[in-house]
Amino acid sequence: LSTTELDLSAIEPGQAIKASFRKQPLFVRNLTPQEIEAANKVPLSDLRDPQSLAERTKEGKANWLVTLGVCTHLGCVPLGAGEGENKGPFGGYFCPCHGSAYDTAGRIRQGPAPLNLAVPDYSFTSDTTILVG
Ligand code: FES
Repeated sequence: LSTTELDLSAIEPGQAIKASFRKQPLFVRNLTPQEIEAANKVPLSDLRDPQSLAERTKEGKANWLVTLGVCTHLGCVPLGAGEGENKGPFGGYFCPCHGSAYDTAGRIRQGPAPLNLAVPDYSFTSDTTILVG
């Protein structure tokens, strides 16, 4: 299976981009300190699919949220990264198909989707470059 290398250096804090990985949308988001704090403040017991931001990011790189841009309900592409600015009520991503709202860690918070946005296998190959897959 193929891998995808991405240069993150142009993604500003607060910005998210949509790339593609194995023909699926891939979201890469540079979280602001406020967005990191918002994610860390949520008790895991409040979550449908309990995962901390630390479990969803790489050590020392909590600002880089890398997920598939595929809603875990029926597979629409959520808004908030190159598909419109609507980040939804939890400040992450919003799926317009049936109203699933994801938070700043890409975790499902509202609506029919059962699971968080999936985090693919990836690693940092330099400070600002990742290899996905
Ligand atoms: Fe996203 Fe249904 S496909 S809410």
